[in-house]
Amino acid sequence: MSFRRVLPVVALFAIPAMAQEAPPDPEDTRATFPATPHASKVFPWPTGVPYQADTEPELIRGRQMGYNQCNSTTQNQDSLCQTGFFNSIEDFCLWAPPHPDSLIGDSEGEGVAWCTQPKHGARLIPEGALQGLQFIKTPSYVQIAGFIDQTRLNIQAGDQGGEFDPHGADLRGNPLGGLMYSNAFSGGGENYQQVIEWTLFIGADAFCFKVCDSADDDADHYCEHIYDRMGCNFNMPNQAQNGTFESCLGENQDFPGTYVENGQTLTYTQPPYPTLVDPTYTPRMPASSECQTFQSAELFSGLADVTAPGQPEPTGEDGEDTEPSAGTPTSNGPRPTSSDDAGNQDNADADAEDSAVTIAVSGVSIFAVIFSAMFFA
Ligand SMILES: *[C@@H]1O[C@H](CO)[C@@H](O)[C@H](O)[C@H]1NC(C)=O
Ligand SMILES: *[C@@H]1O[C@H](CO)[C@@H](O)[C@H](O)[C@H]1NC(C)=O
Repeated sequence: MSFRRVLPVVALFAIPAMAQEAPPDPEDTRATFPATPHASKVFPWPTGVPYQADTEPELIRGRQMGYNQCNSTTQNQDSLCQTGFFNSIEDFCLWAPPHPDSLIGDSEGEGVAWCTQPKHGARLIPEGALQGLQFIKTPSYVQIAGFIDQTRLNIQAGDQGGEFDPHGADLRGNPLGGLMYSNAFSGGGENYQQVIEWTLFIGADAFCFKVCDSADDDADHYCEHIYDRMGCNFNMPNQAQNGTFESCLGENQDFPGTYVENGQTLTYTQPPYPTLVDPTYTPRMPASSECQTFQSAELFSGLADVTAPGQPEPTGEDGEDTEPSAGTPTSNGPRPTSSDDAGNQDNADADAEDSAVTIAVSGVSIFAVIFSAMFFA
C-alpha cells in the first residue's frame, strides 16, 4: 500500500497550522485594538514592571495568559513569566509555548520566557535544547541565532514555527503583553533597559533573536517585524553552526527587506498570505569579527540538570554526566566562508514532495505559511 506509506508523511509536514486554527468568529463583536499599542508602553526596570502589561482583557484575543512580574516564586518549569531578557550569549531567554507539543502558530499569543540563567523568574531552557549558537553584538543591536531541539521547548517536532514581536496585527504583542529587557546597551549588570523593538523567529529546529538598541534612531528598521513569513536567513543573516557556541562582534546588517542594486536601495514586499513568499535577493552577510568559541557546558552550567517536559530524568547519580548533546565545538572544523552555510531554516527536505509549507530560494529558506494572517504583521 505504497500510497498509504507516502501520503500521511507528507500531510504531517504539509498541513499548515493555519488549518488547525479556528477562523475568526464573525459573531464575535469584541474590539481588536488596545487604546495604546503594546510597543508604545514604557515600563522602567524594576519598579515600573506591572503584573500584566496588557490591561484590556475584553479585547478579541482575551486576557494576557501569564504575568510580567517574575521573581524567585515564579522561577520554575511551570512558570508563566512573560518578561524576557537578552543580555549576552550566556544570558538570554527565548519565547516558547507553555504546553508540550504545541505549534507556534497556535500558541504565539501565549509564549512564555525560557531562559539560560536561573535568575529571571522564568523557565529554564532544558539541557540539550541549545545545540549551537552565534551571538553577535553590532553598533545597533544584539542578535543570537542557533540550532535547537525544539521538542525540548514544547514545540511540536516538524513545526516550521513563526515569529514573535511586540506588535502583532492587533498591536497587543506576541506573546500578548510580553516584555523584553537587556543590559547589552547599558554596560551590563542590573542596569536593565526595556527593549522596545525586538523580533524572534523559532521553529524548524532553529531560532534567531534580535533586540535593537532603543537609543538608535533606526531600531525599528533593524528590528523590522513585517517580514514575518521570511525566516532567519532573510531577517537575520548569520553564520551560526550546529555544535559551535560562539560570540562575535559584527557590523550592522542592511535593514531587513532592503537591498542595494546598481547603487539603488530597493525594498522587497512580502506578499499577503496565502501567496508564497519569493524573495528577489539574498541578504548581504554582515562581517563579523573577534569571535570567541565556548563549550556549551561552560556557558550554561545551570542547565545541566534541567529536564525537558516528557524527557527522562538525567541518568547519572548527580546528573553531572549528562552532557548536552552538542557541546563539542572543536569537532566542527573551520568556520564557513560563505553564507550558504548559514544553516538556519535549512529544512526544505521534509516538504520536498509538494508542500506549500516551505520553499528554498537562493539559499534562503522560507518560513512556513503557518500563521494566521491576522496576528502576525
Ligand atoms: C512574584 O510574582 C508573582 C507573579 O507575578 C506575584 O503574584 C507575586 O506577588 C510575586 N511575589 C513577590 C514576593 O513579589
Ligand atoms: C544539530 O546537531 C544535533 C546533534 O548532532 C542534531 O541532532 C540535530 O539534528 C542538528 N540540527 C540540525 C538542524 O541539523
